[in-house]
Amino acid sequence: MTWMITGGAGYIGSHVVKALVADRQPLVVLDDLSTGDPERLPAGVPLVHGSVLDRPLLDRVLREHEVRGIVHIAAKKQVGESVERPLWYFRENVEGLRTVLEAAVDGQVDSFVFSSSAAVYGMPDVDLVTEQTPCEPMNPYGETKLAGEWLVGAVGRAHGIATASLRYFNVAGAAGPELGDPGATNLVPMVFERLGRGQAPLVFGADYPTPDGTCIRDYVHVEDIASAHVAAARRLAEDRDAHLVLNIGRGEGVSVAEMVAIIQEVSGHTGTAPEVVARRPGDPARVVASAEAISKELGWSASHDIRDMITSAWAGWQLRHPQ
Ligand code: WQD
Repeated sequence: MTWMITGGAGYIGSHVVKALVADRQPLVVLDDLSTGDPERLPAGVPLVHGSVLDRPLLDRVLREHEVRGIVHIAAKKQVGESVERPLWYFRENVEGLRTVLEAAVDGQVDSFVFSSSAAVYGMPDVDLVTEQTPCEPMNPYGETKLAGEWLVGAVGRAHGIATASLRYFNVAGAAGPELGDPGATNLVPMVFERLGRGQAPLVFGADYPTPDGTCIRDYVHVEDIASAHVAAARRLAEDRDAHLVLNIGRGEGVSVAEMVAIIQEVSGHTGTAPEVVARRPGDPARVVASAEAISKELGWSASHDIRDMITSAWAGWQLRHPQ
């Protein structure tokens, strides 16, 4: 069974591709290369350069590669940008998904894995977020992911496609330096960037109702995110009636202050004390997954800790910023 991985040349996508190749699953990558890079793909993996909004192209790829499963990762993922350009986010993330699903139905695809996000929960008021915690996204990005989950579930049930929506918590790390996150919009790369310039890392608020006053998140190694996709792909291939919605997290909260301390230690930049600045609007105090459902449904749990994430991310950062 051949899988089409949309966004397979991106940061998360290329890790999913690597894990599926290691699992000996035949695949083809579709990527518009807006943020992806062909160099991230293992040798021999076919890459089709194009958009998920291009229906004739989708039909051709599904037919020519005899695709039976789709892992849909291609999307825009910056919260601030989604607030400024909601129409673009809904087109890329929802219309893009709708187009891929339409091609999937017409092309008789059997299995569909969708990249969702903890952003669907918004500001959850619970210690551990389960899949039953109410979804109240706080920005257009999160809204596109929640609408996407609804669409995936509805289309899967109506047309007999097995589905899984995977809600990623905070992704970090890399399988190798060349696969590191090229962006700098999340905590780990943003701290690297500041340290690299000899500046103090910024902490956005230390007056949250948490033990050290800084926000708590559930960071997951991107290789663990990838192995969860392999587990989901296998499950959908066996269980034609599956319609799963699962958190991918470690179930362990780590504060911004703790993260910054480990980043400084791993990178050897211990001289500059972090600088506490104003809260960033829209940041929830605590978002930590319950990882029970995915363990029960897929037998999956994370195998990398925070230190693995930061050490591997730092190696990637140094490769891209040799100065
Ligand atoms: C983590 C914590 C910041 C930078 C976002 C999206 C989410 C998902 C992942 C996916 C927060 C703090 C950050 C810095 C800081 N997107 N911080 N100093 O906001 O939890 O999640 O990315 O596709 O939908 O919302 O992640 O890495 O931006 O921030 O103090 O220099 O680090 O305030 O508390 P976030 P993040």
